[in-house]
Amino acid sequence: MTANTFTLDGSEVGFEPGDTLMQAAQRAGHYVPHLCWHEKLGQSGACRLCTVAITDTRGHTRKAAACTTRAEPGLAVANRTPAQDADRRLLLQMLFVEGNHFCPSCEKSGNCLLQATAYEMDMHGPQFEEFYPHRPVDASHPTMWLDLNRCILCKLCVRASHEIDGKDVFAIGGHGIGSHLIVNAPSGRLGDSAFSETDFAASVCPVGAILPKRRGFVIPIGERRFDKAPVSEEPEHG
Ligand code: SF4
Ligand code: FES
Repeated sequence: MTANTFTLDGSEVGFEPGDTLMQAAQRAGHYVPHLCWHEKLGQSGACRLCTVAITDTRGHTRKAAACTTRAEPGLAVANRTPAQDADRRLLLQMLFVEGNHFCPSCEKSGNCLLQATAYEMDMHGPQFEEFYPHRPVDASHPTMWLDLNRCILCKLCVRASHEIDGKDVFAIGGHGIGSHLIVNAPSGRLGDSAFSETDFAASVCPVGAILPKRRGFVIPIGERRFDKAPVSEEPEHG
């Protein structure tokens, strides 16, 4: 094995100094399941979907998030193993019951990373009891709407607004099961914030929580992004 390489499910992957396992794997064309990682944004470690089993050169194995763990020479990383995917399926099942995700009535269906990842993990049903939480829909903005029923607290919009848009429109408030997305405006409403449909944060939501208004079925069901190829086979992997 050459100097700056590790193995991912047995395949050798090269990395640049400072790369995370996720960055190196994605660059090499490997799919590591994720919901809260984006190549243009800083690390978060919010969703844990990217958890892999890492065996170091001394033979010690630990589990860690691929998006927050630095690549090191000689690591052996187990990614798409039945055990890792079973853990991911459980995480997804918890996410699905914790919010209100009714795919057939959601405009994001077919373009949704949560839905596509659930298909990829062979998730068939919710398994746990649905919470059916009461969460608001904020339609106060002239061109965008915010449906917190679908928010999975990935913080992509939070980081996008801070790091790229320079606006800090979004933040996460509360703790544990009470965690929720908050909008930086005196009223707490999107229409009273600095948010714009041209913000990077307006396009980064992996689910259907932040969507443009008055735009439905422009791309028909069956011809959408993940209808064409499963998330693990498309070039950018979500
Ligand atoms: Fe993530 Fe979307 Fe929720 Fe923002 S609104 S935290 S991008 S799921
Ligand atoms: Fe790594 Fe979410 S993608 S924790």
